[in-house]
Amino acid sequence: MNKDQADKIKSLIKLDIDAVAAYEEALQHIETPSIHKTINMYREDHRRHVTLLSDLLTGAGEVPPERTKDVKGFFIEGFTSLRSVTGEDGALKAMLSNEKITNRKYQDAYENWDLDPEVLAVVSDNYEDERRHLSYIEDVLQVRV
Ligand SMILES: [Fe+2]
Ligand SMILES: [Fe+2]
Repeated sequence: MNKDQADKIKSLIKLDIDAVAAYEEALQHIETPSIHKTINMYREDHRRHVTLLSDLLTGAGEVPPERTKDVKGFFIEGFTSLRSVTGEDGALKAMLSNEKITNRKYQDAYENWDLDPEVLAVVSDNYEDERRHLSYIEDVLQVRV
């Protein structure tokens, strides 16, 4: 694994670490049991993404980014609005914008990055999860308009 590829994987990991933190914040505002359950599952997806990508780095002798709870990267806007929302709808709307960011980044990674096959396989699986997250949140919000 070359440095460019390692750096790219690190940036994906940071994105997924932010996603976990954003999901944790969102969960505090979500009261509908079925939605809470689903969002909780998606948080676990993001945790798994962090683990899978980190394992790839570790296997290549690289040091993965630390898991932290303070969001200052990709999600800062969505996260800040999450902090100020009072209801479930506001939380879901903030998560919608976060998932759009995640999907854009994973799409770029999947389509344009020059990745080793075993890395691409993980990115592909993760991207599939991200698309599911986005379309679920879109569906839930649509029903409520
Ligand atoms: Fe993720
Ligand atoms: Fe996601």
